[in-house]
Amino acid sequence: MEHYVVKGGNPLSGEVEIAGAKNAALAILAAAIMANEPVTVENVPDVSDIRALVGAIEQIGGGVEHPDRHTYILNGATIVDGPVDNEAVRRIRGSYYLIGSLLGKYRKAEVALPGGCNIGLRPIDQHIKGFRALGASVSLASPGMVVAKAQELNGSHIYMDVVSVGATINIVMAAVMARGNTIIENAAKEPHVVDLANFLNSMGARIRGAGTDVIRIKGVERLHGTEYSIIPDQIEAGTYMYAAAATRGDVTITNVIPKHLECMTAKLIEMGCEITESDDSVRIVAARRLEHTNVKTLPYPGFPTDMQPQISVLLGLARGTSIVTESIFENRFKYTDELAKMGAAIRVEGNTAIIDGVENYTGANISAPDLRAGAALVTAALAASGYSEIYDIHFIERGYEDFPEKLRSLGACIAKVDSAEEERKAVNRFNLRVVG
Ligand code: EPZ
Repeated sequence: MEHYVVKGGNPLSGEVEIAGAKNAALAILAAAIMANEPVTVENVPDVSDIRALVGAIEQIGGGVEHPDRHTYILNGATIVDGPVDNEAVRRIRGSYYLIGSLLGKYRKAEVALPGGCNIGLRPIDQHIKGFRALGASVSLASPGMVVAKAQELNGSHIYMDVVSVGATINIVMAAVMARGNTIIENAAKEPHVVDLANFLNSMGARIRGAGTDVIRIKGVERLHGTEYSIIPDQIEAGTYMYAAAATRGDVTITNVIPKHLECMTAKLIEMGCEITESDDSVRIVAARRLEHTNVKTLPYPGFPTDMQPQISVLLGLARGTSIVTESIFENRFKYTDELAKMGAAIRVEGNTAIIDGVENYTGANISAPDLRAGAALVTAALAASGYSEIYDIHFIERGYEDFPEKLRSLGACIAKVDSAEEERKAVNRFNLRVVG
């Protein structure tokens, strides 16, 4: 079975370049088919969630060109009426953006219920509330299909009961070609919400206020082709920053927007790391043992839930006791049992983890329970003494492009292997200190 083998203990050092944001790309590629002209999207990360969404777009007849690894040219002119459903669509979360884009464009969408990481209930009631406010009827047809239809869509005033990235993005897509004005209150402010709005505006939409609590949309008749480059992935960047800190390394993260990373850099500074920012890079130096702190996940600009496992791995090595509170998803501490196998002293009570820092982790055989927790456990293995094997790496490949390769370029001993023989060879290379 494919897994990573890691020999821990090397401080990471050097430079790593960050890919385009997976969660922005999922929304933007789904929105791209709203034009009947070619739309070029650059800086798309090469990860399995994106390939699944593009596969779904191809399946419903969308034109897909892939001129280079990070560029797609999509054309919605050839889309045919029919359900969006296959095994990959049901596995990812981002497929639900096709409900908003198809409803907005064709006044009809039939899409399999989304999957995604198992980190909590993840209802879609706020998406449905928004579609209904615009005039659509929404039903859950069997087996597991969402059907949204409207004679016409009319602008509306929508107040979101919870701050939801997915619902905000979906309602924006459904509203851009609705008749009249839409106001979304209590909207999500994440960088990828802003990126989606900028992208749609470059196609002729009229969206204002993205990045604030209130988004205002004036409906337009049609959208046109465009060329657009996706923003860098703040969570991928954060993951490398925290891996640098866990291994007491010195790493410069390039192709980032430092403003998007502030909630994560602030915590590193509290823990005793040195941070140097430039226009598009951040350097992290962790010269000594980290200090404990407390953290609570919150919608942007608060500390992201997608970095909660990574910060817990750091706090597990910090001096003193730290408290981590998860306020977005109710089932995001599943990795703590795996981390405990590596020697972490971590106790979960409800939505809180109480962590007593230990001096060192030791290598272990562990499984990734989901995407971000999987990356966090790899970070723990890089910091640990001895060898680790990490299984279920398909979760990690959903969202991290070239994860082992990028870590190796920073001096880590990590290899993806598929047999005992490959593992033996990798371990020999590590012992000869030949990284790769
Ligand atoms: C997006 O999920 C991301 N996924 C997640 O990234 C991320 O963790 C999350 O936003 C929070 O930042 C994608 O962009 C594809 P939400 P999403 O709607 O849209 C509740 C990763 O690792 N809620 O902002 O599903 C919900 O239960 C993944 O890359 C409702 O109650 O998250 C949660 O408590 C994992 N009703 C809160 O809102 C709804 O209709 C925020 O969820 C919708 C959401």
